[in-house]
Amino acid sequence: MDRNLALELARVTEAAALDSGRWVGKGNKVAADAAATEAMRRTLDEMDINGIVVIGEGEMDEAPMLYIGEELGAGIEDSTKVDIAVDPLEGTTICSKGVNGAIATIAMAPRGGFLHAPDMYMDKLVTGPDGIGACDMQKSPGENVKALAKAKGCQPQDLMVVLLDRPRHDKAIAEIRKAGARIQLISDGDVAPAVASAIEGSGVDMMMGIGGAPEGVLTAAAIKCLGGFMQGRLVFMSEEERTRSRDMGITDFDKIYTAEEMAKGDVFFAATGVTNGDLVRGVRYFAGGAKTHTVVMRSKTRTVRFLETIHYFDHKPGFNAKKK
Ligand code: FBP
Repeated sequence: MDRNLALELARVTEAAALDSGRWVGKGNKVAADAAATEAMRRTLDEMDINGIVVIGEGEMDEAPMLYIGEELGAGIEDSTKVDIAVDPLEGTTICSKGVNGAIATIAMAPRGGFLHAPDMYMDKLVTGPDGIGACDMQKSPGENVKALAKAKGCQPQDLMVVLLDRPRHDKAIAEIRKAGARIQLISDGDVAPAVASAIEGSGVDMMMGIGGAPEGVLTAAAIKCLGGFMQGRLVFMSEEERTRSRDMGITDFDKIYTAEEMAKGDVFFAATGVTNGDLVRGVRYFAGGAKTHTVVMRSKTRTVRFLETIHYFDHKPGFNAKKK
């Protein structure tokens, strides 16, 4: 795939963050999500791609744009055929409350590259490269903490493990504490800390627990670019979820997926901070413009770029962020 796509994706997540950033702390997660979605859709349609949304805002009948199956791109003949995974605003509630951890994020793969994960839960275990050959979902949380510490050559108390603050994680939290690791409990938004766990010095070493499956596929794209470790297993809550999964081509319901199995081929990932977080900083507005912080990466070359970008709204025709 064209290497320039990586920087084009940064433009997409920057636009989504700039528009949804206007809604930080305003208590309206629906409006914040709509602003991000519109901006992402607008910028994706300017790209020289022949794209199909495989992870999106929902099914066609429940989402007005960026729905699963929607075709995107400038409509240029012979454009690269790609699959697109989006979460225009990952952490809608945290954005509406103005707390840390909201990002705008996207990933792209050659056609057929992404696992078509329905909107359901996935159990995830994510670390940096040290976790390869050391961690395994089939081990207990305490065993994984000890294994990662050993692989990193540190003590469990040096590790920071991130989990969603949910009752379903109480047992794992107790075990991780017993193993000696430190814990950060987040209210929402597990993509950013999962990606951060594969970046040395981010302050996060491991993300584990049950969260969204679509978020798991986006995470897998980034972890593949970072050479990190990830396993994910779909968690079925109903017969309807099994039927939907079957319709989307999933046959083995107990399968533990690696990052490579969820994001195949030459994949790209980008995320821009809406609010501050361990991965990227949030949007900072000033008179006539704003500054964004974005991470963009590509699996083929493993190049990971952090972009600090200044946007002057008067020079961006059709740009929404200035209007609010
Ligand atoms: P939003 O849909 O509000 O953006 O929330 C996203 C998220 O927090 C994900 O990061 C996480 O994987 C999932 O929701 C957790 O789901 P639940 O709130 O049902 O535990």
